[in-house]
Amino acid sequence: MTDVTPPGDPAPLLSVTDLSVGFKGHTETVTVVDHVSFSLRAGETLGIVGESGSGKTVSSLALLGLLPASARVTGSAKFDGRELVGMPPRKLRDVRGNDISVIFQEPMTSLDPAFTVGNQLSEAYRNHRGGSRRKALDRAAEMLRLVGIPEPQRRLGEYPHSFSGGMRQRVMIAMALICSPKLLIADEPTTALDVTIQSQILELLKSLQAELGMAMIFVTHDLGVVASVCDAVSVMYAGQVIEESPIDEFFSHPLHPYSAGLLDSMPQSVAKGERLRMIAGTVPPPSRFPVGCRFHPRCKYVVEACTTTPPELDSVEGDRKVRCIRHAELTLEVAK
Ligand SMILES: Nc1ncnc2c1ncn2[C@@H]1O[C@H](COP(=O)(O)OP(=O)(O)O)[C@@H](O)[C@H]1O
Ligand code: SF4
Ligand SMILES: [Mg+2]
Repeated sequence: MTDVTPPGDPAPLLSVTDLSVGFKGHTETVTVVDHVSFSLRAGETLGIVGESGSGKTVSSLALLGLLPASARVTGSAKFDGRELVGMPPRKLRDVRGNDISVIFQEPMTSLDPAFTVGNQLSEAYRNHRGGSRRKALDRAAEMLRLVGIPEPQRRLGEYPHSFSGGMRQRVMIAMALICSPKLLIADEPTTALDVTIQSQILELLKSLQAELGMAMIFVTHDLGVVASVCDAVSVMYAGQVIEESPIDEFFSHPLHPYSAGLLDSMPQSVAKGERLRMIAGTVPPPSRFPVGCRFHPRCKYVVEACTTTPPELDSVEGDRKVRCIRHAELTLEVAK
């Protein structure tokens, strides 16, 4: 488990253990997330990184009980002393509104075009905290101010379509934070934005996190984002965690060939947010995960044993973990 806090500190805020998700198909259940474990403490930020299709979003949605009925979720996710896996939907809804919030890549999927921003923000607040409409609208204006939207009182009366992409993402952040959650799950929150707006939103999230003391799970395919906001990183490949590490060690010497490939694919000249694109091949679909190490068809260090033996997630160097049978003998160089 990724765990960046020294021993003796209080229990983790979130502790995910062996979380698996399968989807029922016509003939069989396909496992798309396979025994994923990680943990984080109050105020910390964990990056979950990996190419598209590796299971990052499904893992986050599983924590929040937001997967379709065809999903089978097993394992454990203990949040603040409560088990989220198997929690009745009504209780989970309470946790989602009050304690854990989520923001997604595309704000228009979460904002209703038919209602004003003020209406949506204030209802999000009242649904969970109650109180008068007036008080909720004041809170909504305060949140818009906090996320850097000029003239918040006036903008409360406007509809989502009159906000630019960057401003809509700020509204989404205001909506996610209006009930002061202990944990924010941000799933590629800046991917759809241009580079300048993207870095503004990242700065905003970092400063809000410091101000509000919340923990954050940052889901992204972009290691530049991980470097700028995270304390620790969990790398996912084909439904599994393949490396976990505190952030500095990860960037100075990755332990898994896939991590090294990701780092190699982010030369300093590449703008933040550009797609990872230099590891040959793609993540296989869950119905065709390779036997042995799932990364072996793309790995330049592959040996015979990799094609038959599924590697365990081994603990190394204190609080790091890696899933590669050759990790002890490989020294991975990353171009600087
Ligand atoms: N509702 C679903 N039914 C079946 N398969 C799904 C469903 N949602 C996602 N998947 C599959 O799960 C895998 C992981 O998807 P996802 O978590 O969205 O990846 P990521 O967020 O890392 O890009 C993908 O192969 C995707 O096709
Ligand atoms: S187990 Fe083998 S194929 Fe997999 S990452 Fe390690 S060296 Fe590469
Ligand atoms: Mg995703």
